[in-house]
Amino acid sequence: MYYESMTLEQLEAQAQMFAIELKARKAPLCILLYGDLGAGKSTFARMLVQALTSKETNVPSPTFTLLQTYETTAGPLTHFDLYRLKSIEDVYDLGFNEYVLSHICVVEWPERLGNDLPTPHIKITLAHDSEHTRTLVIERVGC
Ligand SMILES: Nc1ncnc2c1ncn2[C@@H]1O[C@H](COP(=O)(O)OP(=O)(O)O)[C@@H](O)[C@H]1O
Ligand SMILES: [Mg+2]
Repeated sequence: MYYESMTLEQLEAQAQMFAIELKARKAPLCILLYGDLGAGKSTFARMLVQALTSKETNVPSPTFTLLQTYETTAGPLTHFDLYRLKSIEDVYDLGFNEYVLSHICVVEWPERLGNDLPTPHIKITLAHDSEHTRTLVIERVGC
């Protein structure tokens, strides 16, 4: 487990380190982003997608579309925001289990997945600790 308080610049450096790992790995991996509204989940997802594509890539929060897929230098990546899902059936209907097999999946509100979490995964918990910093806790499961 790894724990640190990060500014936006430090968070970006962290996203770039994950990008290097994902490129070297060339196998699907889930990154589960926990944290309250405004904790920085979408910000981190945007930094990661941009690190794997280009700084110019538009990465909107998929609050209404539920998911958004990007072709990246580490393979296809799908950014999910599961906030609006009501049940585990909604997760199946979205095809989440199929995406996990072939895409890097970056998931906001992974609480909606229930207890059956994909393996391997990296769990990142973001918490507001000051106006300009967020505490980041990183836990790895099976990777
Ligand atoms: N150190 C930091 N890390 C992440 N976000 C930060 C940080 N400092 C300020 N912010 C701001 O906090 C907001 C986080 O919003 P967002 O990423 O949409 O949160 P979430 O997706 O978790 O609801 C953004 O406006 C971002 O610029
Ligand atoms: Mg968000």
